[in-house]
Amino acid sequence: MIKKFLVIGNPIQHSLSPDLHNYWIKKNKINASYEKKLLQENELKKFISDIEEENIHGANITVPFKNKIIPLLDSLTSEADRSQSVNTIYKVKNKIIGDNTDIDGFKIALEKTKQTIENKTALILGAGGVVSSIIIALKKLKIDKIFITNRTEKKATEIKKTFSDVEIIKWGEIIDFDIIINATSVGLDKADVIKLDYEKISKDKFFYDVIYNPKETNFLKEAKKFGGKTENGKTMFLYQAQKAFFIWHGVLPKIDTEAINLLNL
Ligand code: ATR
Repeated sequence: MIKKFLVIGNPIQHSLSPDLHNYWIKKNKINASYEKKLLQENELKKFISDIEEENIHGANITVPFKNKIIPLLDSLTSEADRSQSVNTIYKVKNKIIGDNTDIDGFKIALEKTKQTIENKTALILGAGGVVSSIIIALKKLKIDKIFITNRTEKKATEIKKTFSDVEIIKWGEIIDFDIIINATSVGLDKADVIKLDYEKISKDKFFYDVIYNPKETNFLKEAKKFGGKTENGKTMFLYQAQKAFFIWHGVLPKIDTEAINLLNL
């Protein structure tokens, strides 16, 4: 029987997970399919019962359900629990498990850049769903200090409740950092800009954008122009997908040129 996998979210149209997973499924000769599905919040329960009944064998969860799905699950892995964010689910022994592969995805992505993270200072822009995973990954890489800033300060305050050593700065302010991470949705539209004094802050600093489409946001463009080192979210996306694939199929798929090219938009 062909096993069915899904990515659910709202919106979901932009997701490239099906392209990547179906490429790996074919390449590894696995009898499975992977599709994307737009869901409303009130459809989550039915979706979980489809996994219970094995109509669906596993799923990726994306915005805005990574946190909302948690009360419907039987158990969380320690990383999902710590981040309160689930991006991968599967069933084991009649239990629906929530896992988080964004943490490792981000961690491996940073490791691959060869940037030193240990004892450095990071500034995170944004306080949405992905930020707790980024914080945990940075801590695993022994970051010295994390600052966060968000347009709506209350959401940054919520994050500080879990990660008390994170420091909040006002939206629009800047501190001296080594690494700056755009975790907002600003940049998804090509015309979007994040107002920063790039000329002053960029030289020899490392800029990471969680966004991978468009390939180069204005945030990365401006930083590069003034001597910053830059990386887009493609690497994080690839590694979170690779780990989810391993969890479901027991095979670690290759991130080869063809896989990477699927995301070269
Ligand atoms: P959610 O908050 O529902 O999890 P998300 O896509 O994970 O959604 O996060 C969106 C992030 O982008 C938030 O940090 C958001 O800031 P607010 O909390 O103030 O909404 C940020 N964001 C979105 N549009 C923005 C804009 N025009 N300017 C600044 N920040 C913006």
